[in-house]
Amino acid sequence: MTKKFKRHLITAALPYANGPLHIGHLAGAYLPADTYVRYLRLKGEDVAFVCGSDEYGAAITMRAKKENTTPRQIIDKYHTQIKDTFARFGMSFDIYHRTSAPIHTETAQAIFTRLNDQGKFVVQESEQYFDEKAQQFLADRYIIGTCPKCGHDRAFGDQCEKCGSTLSPTDLINPRSTLTDTPPVLKRTKHWYLPLDQYEDWLREWIVNEKQGVWKTNVYGQCKSWIEGGLQARAMTRDLDWGIPVPLPPEEAAGKVLYVWLDAPIGYISATREWARQQDKNWEDYWKSPDTRLIHFVGKDNIVFHCIIFPIVLKAHGEFILPDNVPANEFLNLEGDKISTSRNWAVWLHEYMDEFPGRNDELRYVLSSIAPETGDSEFTWKDYQTRINSELVAILGNLVNRVAVLIHKFYEGKVPSSAAQLEFTHAGLREAVGKTYDALDQHLGNFKFKAGLFEVIDLARTGNKYLTDTEPWKTIKTEPEKAAEALSNALLLATHLGVCLQPFLPETATKILRMFNLPQTHYRWDEEVVIAGGQSINQPFLLFQKVEDADIQKQIDKLHQSKLAQTPAAPLKAEIVYDDFSKLDIRVAEVLACEKVPKANKLLKFTLDTGLDQRTVVSGIAEYFNPADLVGQRVLVVVNLAPRELRGIVSQGMILTAKDRDGKLVLVQPAQEVANGSGVS
Ligand code: 2FM
Ligand code: ZN
Repeated sequence: MTKKFKRHLITAALPYANGPLHIGHLAGAYLPADTYVRYLRLKGEDVAFVCGSDEYGAAITMRAKKENTTPRQIIDKYHTQIKDTFARFGMSFDIYHRTSAPIHTETAQAIFTRLNDQGKFVVQESEQYFDEKAQQFLADRYIIGTCPKCGHDRAFGDQCEKCGSTLSPTDLINPRSTLTDTPPVLKRTKHWYLPLDQYEDWLREWIVNEKQGVWKTNVYGQCKSWIEGGLQARAMTRDLDWGIPVPLPPEEAAGKVLYVWLDAPIGYISATREWARQQDKNWEDYWKSPDTRLIHFVGKDNIVFHCIIFPIVLKAHGEFILPDNVPANEFLNLEGDKISTSRNWAVWLHEYMDEFPGRNDELRYVLSSIAPETGDSEFTWKDYQTRINSELVAILGNLVNRVAVLIHKFYEGKVPSSAAQLEFTHAGLREAVGKTYDALDQHLGNFKFKAGLFEVIDLARTGNKYLTDTEPWKTIKTEPEKAAEALSNALLLATHLGVCLQPFLPETATKILRMFNLPQTHYRWDEEVVIAGGQSINQPFLLFQKVEDADIQKQIDKLHQSKLAQTPAAPLKAEIVYDDFSKLDIRVAEVLACEKVPKANKLLKFTLDTGLDQRTVVSGIAEYFNPADLVGQRVLVVVNLAPRELRGIVSQGMILTAKDRDGKLVLVQPAQEVANGSGVS
């Protein structure tokens, strides 16, 4: 931190109340925000950490339509679910608010009114798409058509999800309304536009000049390219029946609501107002004082709204501070594919907590270790298992456990020292601990959570090495004072781990401090950890359980199953008559030999005993099978298929396989033992 601020206002993107939370949400914004806030609190800073549900906009109305219900029911259902999930996961928000609250309507309308009174909007009529059948104007997401850039035929009115281009509805070729599947017509309507272009010079100064090297490169780069690409006025109102009414007389603005991206970030202000009301604080200290440091934690897709549009609103209003930083993360992918709610390709947080009870910190650990801090990254269950087993269990858990077990084994659970307050008697360890705190300060202060976490694990590694080198289990017999010293030093290091881990793994940190029976289960970083020689520590227990192969296989299978359930089966082929079918001569055969065809990635050459003869069949299934595994297997073969030559080998038949919707191939085999040559009908 370059400047000393009196207080910090930390916001985490308001999730749409239209579905459950998944690990991508956590990795993108909530986990870094929570880690940062915990760090600030440990340093004794004055912090307000606000979040809440984003309850307006097309995201909500589309979900309501899909679930055949009303937007109100959708937001009530998902707001409750998201709030509970965050609470169960231990997110340390000071308030989790919602944008349907009256105080939010009032705040958003007051800001709109002030901007309007000050002439900050340009009121303009334009032509927008209207669905005549549904008798309503269409939000960008309700219009699909062909992308003019890549030809994808299901691009949305605001974006093509195939090529990533940002679009306007009128860019689409052959647009259709998703409400009625009819082509929309253009109709004139009036809206209040924020002239972003008028703020270009200011943005160039405030971001392009001042934030280079200060904001993360991914954030700075995105902003710079938006600004340099030229900004255009953006409508801050919509013709919709779900949203905050535009606070103007009906003759001026009947049926118009605020654009969701105007009201949502104002949600941070209304959440702060509500929190301050409950705490008897002054919300304006947090939004209008230059002594406050405002930080927005968001995901990649929210950068423009938090770095350009919302700051313009704040600036145009004139009384508010601007974000000091927007440390946005990029995207987290899952098992080689983009996380997708509609395709159910996600690890849902509430399901994770049901299936891995008491293991929130394990997920925090893995997601912080692989956080997409500067580029997209990937979560795989195998990696989850490896990181937990070889880092949390084998390094951190192992050290803490060894210390506690050895103190119980050799000293009846009492700290083996006569000092009134334990201090390091080993300079290397003292230094390592000091360096860890410094490095943590450096990394966390600069939003480098991954690097910070690695420092803590490194300290645990140092502790393990120290124990292995000093071997107190041996010296206890020969030089007992050395064993006592080693265990006292290791205990002190392990308690520091408990302190350092607080921002990252809060439950584990508390467990460590409890296990060592410290007077507090929570320490500020400027507080001294006092351990007296002779004091008792509690019984050892394992901090982390090993993740078994079966645990992760279950998760992988579940993912693929749910994806399959979402993928339509191949369409039915044209009808045939029995005679067509009876022309096929299918036999049971045994694989006598199988090998890869040289220089052909996909081909396997089989020698089969068909019961009629021994013959060669070439099949394009090499990607899915290991040839050696197939020898001795029974297969079904079409034996009367006309021979054809593949890579110079004559293939006499076709082996039957089944392909699932995920593209995986399996052999079709007789369920019971049956002689080669048996006919299939
Ligand atoms: O992308 C989203 O999920 C939005 N609901 C984020 C809003 S953040 C803020 F502006 F409220
Ligand atoms: Zn496209």
